[in-house]
Amino acid sequence: MDKPIQQLLNEDENQYSLRPQTLDEFIGLEQVKEQLRIHIEAAKGRREALEHILLVGPPGLGKTTLARIIATEMGSGFKSAVGPMMERLDLATILTNLEEREILFVDEIHRMRGYVQESMYPAMEDYKLDLPIGQGPSADIIPVPLARFTLVGATTREGLLGGPFRDRFGIRIHLDYYTAEEIQIAINRMSRLLNVKIEEEAERELARRSRGNMRIAGNLLKKIRDYATVKSDGIITYEVAQEALEFFRIDELGLDENDRLYLRTLIEKFGGRTGLKSIAVAVSEDERTIAEVYEPFLIKIGFLNLTPMGRAASDLAYEHLGYDPPDYPTLF
Ligand code: ADE
Repeated sequence: MDKPIQQLLNEDENQYSLRPQTLDEFIGLEQVKEQLRIHIEAAKGRREALEHILLVGPPGLGKTTLARIIATEMGSGFKSAVGPMMERLDLATILTNLEEREILFVDEIHRMRGYVQESMYPAMEDYKLDLPIGQGPSADIIPVPLARFTLVGATTREGLLGGPFRDRFGIRIHLDYYTAEEIQIAINRMSRLLNVKIEEEAERELARRSRGNMRIAGNLLKKIRDYATVKSDGIITYEVAQEALEFFRIDELGLDENDRLYLRTLIEKFGGRTGLKSIAVAVSEDERTIAEVYEPFLIKIGFLNLTPMGRAASDLAYEHLGYDPPDYPTLF
């Protein structure tokens, strides 16, 4: 468990070519797509830039994909940046080079520095940038007009965004985990794009073990394709899929070694309950990766509860890992 979060969030080139390009190709999130269609059609009709959009949700649910699709559907350009890497000067360079109605996508926007966020306010509200010339209190502020652009911010932690910043996004969208049926449709689509033969039963099995997450589904499909190529004739039958899932140690619920190490450590070393810092040190992983990548799904399936006394493993987690649940309540 030693990958930095950046690595976990970035996608490889292959994944990029698998991405849907339009809202019609995008599977699931029906209500979100309908809402976006309305805003896009209205903005196009008025020949205006789309309102600024905040996409909120755990990694792997399609925030970057949706941002690109928004640009395609608007017929606009697309530029992207990563929040924590941006300095005020970078922002000024990016903003002054934007074209009318262009989409500026900022990933991990909650990690943008406070003063960079603040220089974003006039850009978002009035399409102008207050550029300081000189230093200190005698500095002159020169307002530089900007093209009417759309900021699309992506965040895993909406609560970490400053209130005034969050309020400047006219459209806020929450992405939720996909159903196994939606993932199965996406796996079918991805396997056609990758030219992989896969049985329907195998698709269903992979979908069931993808933890409601499109990125995990794509990565799992590619790993199992390799397994089928080397160990069999390249066709992903139900039997080959079962064998591969066992080989890669993906369990019935889609949990992998990292998830199980987290839960086992929580239960064995800490009696089922501890703070984020302690568990992070114990599994040699950074706190953010744990809170943003590993924990949300464990919470979603009821294996983990965030309590005032720390992270608590539930009875379900104990049972899944083959431990007897403790005789004191695991949730209070
Ligand atoms: N790839 C990533 N997200 C997707 C989605 N929602 N539908 C289809 N393919 C995808």
